[in-house]
Amino acid sequence: MDKVNFKRMDEGTPEEYQFLHKREVEFTKNVSERIILALKNLDNSLPGYRISRLEHSLQSATRAEADGADKELIIGALIHDLGDELAPANHSQLAATIIRPYVREEVTWIISMHGLFQMFYFGPEDYQGEEIGINKSLRENYKHHKWFDSCDRFCRDWDQMSFDPNYPSKTLEYFEPLINEIFSRKPFDPQYVGNPEFDYN
Ligand SMILES: [Fe+2]
Ligand SMILES: [Fe+2]
Repeated sequence: MDKVNFKRMDEGTPEEYQFLHKREVEFTKNVSERIILALKNLDNSLPGYRISRLEHSLQSATRAEADGADKELIIGALIHDLGDELAPANHSQLAATIIRPYVREEVTWIISMHGLFQMFYFGPEDYQGEEIGINKSLRENYKHHKWFDSCDRFCRDWDQMSFDPNYPSKTLEYFEPLINEIFSRKPFDPQYVGNPEFDYN
């Protein structure tokens, strides 16, 4: 069989579903290749900054690595803006959904919340930016959260810092082995993901 016969799902046979399941498992194994392609696409997104979103992503990941962050956080920094193209209104949650099956819950939470936390760093202290939808104090709702400091560090030291055209970022090729390692993990393997407390759906 190289293709199923059914035209509607309720007419599929058990053999056809076995066949599709095997194909799906194979397809899932190649997710890291598609992550790399999606990162390459960030080279054309969001005009107006001095560097592309791809360069911003590489710079964030390079800074994370230089600060001694573990590999899940480094990959989190690399993919944190992957949602920019398809989900400009909630890009953080899209990126969090992509990485969620492969990393500990803390990293998923940071990626999911980074857009909200990042608002704190829009301009100097006396700039509020309400007229363009910025709310610097939204993160205060999470000030007692166990991962508040981790998310603030992510934004303070890596994300908001990474718009420098002169920073010596590592290349995408440099990060590829790590992308392959993280996204080749068995999805939702409890040894990496634990038993998540939060529902991100
Ligand atoms: Fe972002
Ligand atoms: Fe960012």
